[in-house]
Amino acid sequence: MMNKQKRLSTCYGFFCSGEIMNAREELLLWHSNYGRHCLPWRLNASPYAVLVSEFMLQQTTVATVIPRFHAWMNRFPTIHDMAMSNESEILSAWEGLGYYSRARRLLGSAKAIVTLHNGIIPRDLKSLEKLPGIGPYTAAAIAAFAYDEPAVVLDTNIIRVLCRVGNIKIPIDNAIGKKNLQTFAANFFPSSGCRSVASALMDLGAMICTPTLPQCSTCPLQKTCKATKPETLPKKSPRPVIKKLFENRGVFRREGLLYLEQSLGPRWQGLWILPELGNTMPKGRAIARITYPITRYRITMKVFEGKGRVPTKLMGFNHAELSSLPMPSPMRKIIEKFLLKGDCSDVSLRS
Ligand code: ADE
Repeated sequence: MMNKQKRLSTCYGFFCSGEIMNAREELLLWHSNYGRHCLPWRLNASPYAVLVSEFMLQQTTVATVIPRFHAWMNRFPTIHDMAMSNESEILSAWEGLGYYSRARRLLGSAKAIVTLHNGIIPRDLKSLEKLPGIGPYTAAAIAAFAYDEPAVVLDTNIIRVLCRVGNIKIPIDNAIGKKNLQTFAANFFPSSGCRSVASALMDLGAMICTPTLPQCSTCPLQKTCKATKPETLPKKSPRPVIKKLFENRGVFRREGLLYLEQSLGPRWQGLWILPELGNTMPKGRAIARITYPITRYRITMKVFEGKGRVPTKLMGFNHAELSSLPMPSPMRKIIEKFLLKGDCSDVSLRS
């Protein structure tokens, strides 16, 4: 018991348990009147439907997911139908949702659930988190939405609502801020009935407690909410300033071979790279250019035709050898796109 009291009093955004109970009541009353009860994964909240919807909703909006979810459930009505499918069927059913690695992981999860759990989606967080593509958020969401298990569900909408209710100003993207938010949320979520509290908080975040223009005058939590400037919450750590850097590299091509240097590090140690040309501006036009991020730098690499004798530190490789050579990804992109395929458009690699 001491722990609970201590946890409450050390948590930034402290509320007494009576206040939290009242807030939950107001929230659930609002939700019963205004909640998004017609979302298809709520109308059919079978564990399988919840699993599919949570994967789809990881990086895609509700509006985009709804028709894709219906199509998916028609194509793969049960977890067994999905687990028996091959990757190309899964990928084509995923079309329109983007981030295709999610589809592969969903298939991996379905196969694991069928082989390891007899086709029953686990209800405990530990087993859920062992499945491909299921991290702490998705595990908590499946436990709460599919089984109404006690679980603290923290998606972006819920995080925003809770940070505002508790006027939590510690940045939520560092270890202290994350722990504080987790403690605050653990006190806000009930020991039973997490499904309805999580749905209500999500809907409040999507409909009332929106990122830029929260409608506080119609919010069911206005009596409890401690935020003075809700639109400024949640706080994130300031982003590091991105510095622009430029580098010039040479392409030495002789008799079907492309000459590369093995990096001695610290960057790309052991990998094969186009040699740097130093600080003097090379003569002539760059034949290719690529922009790529490394930590807090944005680097533009220009590539020039290497003139004269091939430096002795370089080694020549033919087309087949190049494809199996370990290379950093900007180098591979530029070599494959520009030098082997002759494409002349710029490449920009995202972080
Ligand atoms: N209901 C269950 N999970 C959801 C989510 N991630 N977004 C919106 N509604 C949901």
